[in-house]
Amino acid sequence: MLRQPVKKGPAFHGALQSAIIILLEEMRPSIWARLSSEGWPEFLEQWKRYMTQADITVVTESQLPVIVELYNQVFRPPENENYFRRRFQGRYNVLAMLASLDNRPVGFCVGFELKPLVFYTWLLGVHGDFRRKSIGRQLLESQLEWAKNHNYEFARLEILNRHRAMMHLTVLLEYDVVGTRWDSMHTDLLIQFEKPLTNDLR
Ligand SMILES: CC(C)(COP(=O)(O)OP(=O)(O)OC[C@H]1O[C@@H](n2cnc3c(N)ncnc32)[C@H](O)[C@@H]1OP(=O)(O)O)[C@@H](O)C(=O)NCCC(=O)NCCS
Repeated sequence: MLRQPVKKGPAFHGALQSAIIILLEEMRPSIWARLSSEGWPEFLEQWKRYMTQADITVVTESQLPVIVELYNQVFRPPENENYFRRRFQGRYNVLAMLASLDNRPVGFCVGFELKPLVFYTWLLGVHGDFRRKSIGRQLLESQLEWAKNHNYEFARLEILNRHRAMMHLTVLLEYDVVGTRWDSMHTDLLIQFEKPLTNDLR
């Protein structure tokens, strides 16, 4: 037997409205508690970061000078284009991405295939004036998305022990620590991280 549709009259809408008001009243203390413990400046700062959406593009070889310039603003010692070209030699699926804000390049990431099914993040850098605005995160997430779409099953990276900000970001993105090795060139320990790119490998 077909049931008659129930017409929701003013009483129903009134009750729904009251339920929403009660729910908001319930939530209000936790919002206020958060605001008063963290303070308005912190809250606004977080909001500002949330609103900073960078323009992320895949870079062609002709734009290598832009990457090199950014690299030299972030890393020491300075390097030239040959340093990059040498590293790319014999590499499959070299991927360079640029993050821009209002057409100004502010960050970059570079990666390539380490071996079949594993994509390696070689470099990630964000200009000092634009850090903690989620640009590094957007770059790394875009690279991971690209790798996943190109059928890689794992993402790997190695971080010098001194690069703490990168370590924080990697842990935030749920990479696992899979090893360490001594880097004689930088005289520092490298921490090796890996992340499965397909859910069924997690
Ligand atoms: C590592 C680096 C790329 C991060 O870029 P970024 O745009 O500042 O990072 P994000 O704003 O995307 O950070 C995302 C999250 O990572 C964590 N994080 C990033 N930097 C952090 C720091 N200095 N301290 C603690 N946590 C940090 C935070 O959880 C942050 O979220 P939050 O700001 O909401 O708290 C940037 O610091 C950098 O270029 N460093 C120098 C180069 C370098 O060390 N590269 C790595 C080796 S290849």
